[in-house]
Amino acid sequence: MVFPSTMGLPPERAEEVVRLAGMAPSLHNRQPWRFRLLAHLIELHFAPSARLPVADPHDRELRLGCGAALLNLRIALEHAGVRPIATLLPRLHGQTALAEVRAGSGEPPAPDERRLHRAISERRSNRRPFLPDPVPERDRHALAHAVHEEGCRLHVVEREQLSALEELVHRAHRAQTSDPKFRSELARWTGRAEGEAEGVPVSAAGPQPEPHDLWVLRDFSAGQARQRVPGKDFETDPLMVVVCSYHPGRLADLQAGQALQRMLLTATSLGLVASLISQVVEVDETREELRRLLGGRLQPQALLRLGYGSPAPATPRLQPAELLVDDETAAESGP
Ligand SMILES: Cc1cc2nc3c(=O)[nH]c(=O)nc-3n(C[C@H](O)[C@H](O)[C@H](O)COP(=O)(O)O)c2cc1C
Repeated sequence: MVFPSTMGLPPERAEEVVRLAGMAPSLHNRQPWRFRLLAHLIELHFAPSARLPVADPHDRELRLGCGAALLNLRIALEHAGVRPIATLLPRLHGQTALAEVRAGSGEPPAPDERRLHRAISERRSNRRPFLPDPVPERDRHALAHAVHEEGCRLHVVEREQLSALEELVHRAHRAQTSDPKFRSELARWTGRAEGEAEGVPVSAAGPQPEPHDLWVLRDFSAGQARQRVPGKDFETDPLMVVVCSYHPGRLADLQAGQALQRMLLTATSLGLVASLISQVVEVDETREELRRLLGGRLQPQALLRLGYGSPAPATPRLQPAELLVDDETAAESGP
């Protein structure tokens, strides 16, 4: 198949742009994003088949992942010499359309954007123990600024909020793991064999969770994770942050996904690593309690642990050609 050209980019550059968009993080690595390449614009769609109805019944995390892919797409286009102008939830035909990106005019990318472009391929979810070194204030500011640039807010969890947060995470974890439907969805998409293009492979799962761990509670290895090296426990004082939107709803989810990804790329460019801990925002009751814990005005979208750590392996991806939707597919999913 010859990859289509789009927005003045020849096929090989268009393919590279789609490949980089697809490097975004997604719940259980389901890669829910799809792209429709037209002569003058790129549409972002979600794939209904990539839904995770038990962990993510409202498709909120699906939209976070698609928002993250949109941010990658914007940075990749900018790098390819196209100034992207993104419209969220445009009135397109098709219920799967989430955004469209057209070309505007403007300046070449700033040095910061070039660093973020490099970070797209370097970023990984890191489920291993981190080093005890604290994240400097300057870097915390850079992370908060990245989230702010995408119209969202970063809440750095304060020391006195940690035990309440930990209690909520454990409660959410217990609620989820006591549900057989949740366990079977998790088992289907994690602990996957090497070579599978979707789902989380055993190699990326991190060490076996232990009951005394404060935060990392999901076993992504289907019971095959490496035994913990004695003394290599998880850090006791990680930097815990919550990416928040100002409002609930589909548009805010897409904004939060872009903010999450700009923060993750900024973290990567600063030598930091991160992992998401999503139980607490997936269970409606604990998410509401977390909202109140953070002061009641912000919508918690993603909880993360950040720090310095050893390199983690890459997780596989679908090929760029598998991420394309054609006119017919887009129209079929229409109202
Ligand atoms: C919305 C969202 C929620 C996620 N939740 C978790 C989680 O609870 N635990 C976890 O270990 N990873 C979580 N992840 C990370 C994904 O598993 C990861 O992005 C995916 O496997 C691809 O791997 P990569 O991030 O290394 O590219 C989440 C990612 C997203 C976007």
